[in-house]
Amino acid sequence: MTDVDSIKVHRSAEALRASLRADGYVGWDERLALVPTMGFLHAGHAALIRHAASRKPRVVVSIFVNPLQFGPNEDLERYPRDLEHDLQVCAEAGATDVFYPEVADLTPSDIEIAVEPGRLANRLCGLTRPGHFRGVCTIVNKLFNIVEPSLAVFGWKDAQQQIILRKMVKDLNIPLTIEGVEIVREADGLALSSRNTYLTAEQRAEAVNLSLGLNEARELAVTEGESDAHQLCDVVCGMIEDNTSGVIDYVKCVRLDNLEELDEVEPGNTMIAAAVRFGTTRLIDNVRF
Ligand code: PAF
Repeated sequence: MTDVDSIKVHRSAEALRASLRADGYVGWDERLALVPTMGFLHAGHAALIRHAASRKPRVVVSIFVNPLQFGPNEDLERYPRDLEHDLQVCAEAGATDVFYPEVADLTPSDIEIAVEPGRLANRLCGLTRPGHFRGVCTIVNKLFNIVEPSLAVFGWKDAQQQIILRKMVKDLNIPLTIEGVEIVREADGLALSSRNTYLTAEQRAEAVNLSLGLNEARELAVTEGESDAHQLCDVVCGMIEDNTSGVIDYVKCVRLDNLEELDEVEPGNTMIAAAVRFGTTRLIDNVRF
């Protein structure tokens, strides 16, 4: 077990910045990486932290359940939290600092200005989660401004989020690079997610069909040359409808660079993304090829 005492935990933006400045870190420092998270860390987050640590000597992990990105009927209150375990994951994966601010510190009740994510946010998850990506962009922009890293690391499981954040960095001239890390999966293929803990045993058993369907569609496209995007989506839908009680939110084949829907697969720039509700738990996953 790695000693969690080796990690510096900062409870405010001022404390974090003071610590970085005291150690000689300047704004947007070449030696500094940020891994933004909402906590309840699992092996997927550990992969993000390990990636950051392989690239930069100082790695800040932010842990903040961001109220701005939850809709009124979503799971903000019941979102799982476990700081002690999170610190252990951070230490083992090579983080040097944890930024764990108070809710009122980052999102005071009088907050008014937001980052408007534009058209990319009107697709896929944006259709059923209005305001979600606005909340993500606003908080991530704040985290960028507080930490001022030269590298930020995000997972490909939230592919739409990463694509929107890359656009934000470009459009707002934020002087850092975003790097994406591949989805980490359970042995049977289910993508790791903090929300998997909500699933009943039965739902958990069914949920694997999401990744099975996506994999089968990718195989059909890559090894058998199926290029009809609608056929590929049908394969995923069939797998879910035939084997689960899950309710499909969407299954879509889109261009990876702008999330526009495809009729024909575009090799190297295609993503099939899906969101399925199992009871009240909404799972997302994707394949890219
Ligand atoms: O992916 C997440 O956990 C969150 O959306 C993020 C990027 C930490 C912003 O709150």
